[in-house]
Amino acid sequence: MADFVEVASADDLARRVAELGEQISADYAGREPVMIGVLNGCVPFFADLVRAMSIDLAVDFLSLTRFDGSGRVGMALDAGVPLGGRDVILVEDIVDTGLTLVTLRKVLELHGLASLATVALLDKAPRRIVEVPLEYRGFEVGDEFLIGYGLDWNHLYRNARSLWAVMDLSVLQGDVDAFAPYAYPATV
Ligand code: IMP
Repeated sequence: MADFVEVASADDLARRVAELGEQISADYAGREPVMIGVLNGCVPFFADLVRAMSIDLAVDFLSLTRFDGSGRVGMALDAGVPLGGRDVILVEDIVDTGLTLVTLRKVLELHGLASLATVALLDKAPRRIVEVPLEYRGFEVGDEFLIGYGLDWNHLYRNARSLWAVMDLSVLQGDVDAFAPYAYPATV
């Protein structure tokens, strides 16, 4: 079996992100939402999604600190945009156990928002351990470890243009460069 399997090509991703952009634009017509990207994994998806939207919106970002072992997360919000009374849309790369999203929602709700919704490119639904609302999702995926289009392995490969499943993690554990030929295929 191949060590890496492409689960969504750059074209598949572009098509689905365009659909999400259209759907969210229709749902939020006239409301000027604040799109808040959850760093770092959201970056390619965020940039493509906001450009697929055809309504006025504001952008902001937040980052998470993980406390290893406890599963707790802390959050740093760049509160450049005051959130009170605003319609907020959280933009996530992937929802896995759901723990991150639950924490983020709780903290954001303290800001007195008009509404809060989440869009995640990927939903690892079978791995959920807490129930949490997910209003928009790009693709439902299985429980394989995924890399590319924002998702990383040890801080690498977020810039791969398509999305891949790692079928044997020991390959990357043994050689972090093993994915490079897939991530950066020759273009000529
Ligand atoms: P959750 O709290 O378990 O839902 O964690 C979500 C976070 O875990 C995501 O924002 C990613 O940073 C990370 N994550 C979960 N699954 C994957 C994966 O397959 N590849 C890369 N990162 C992942």
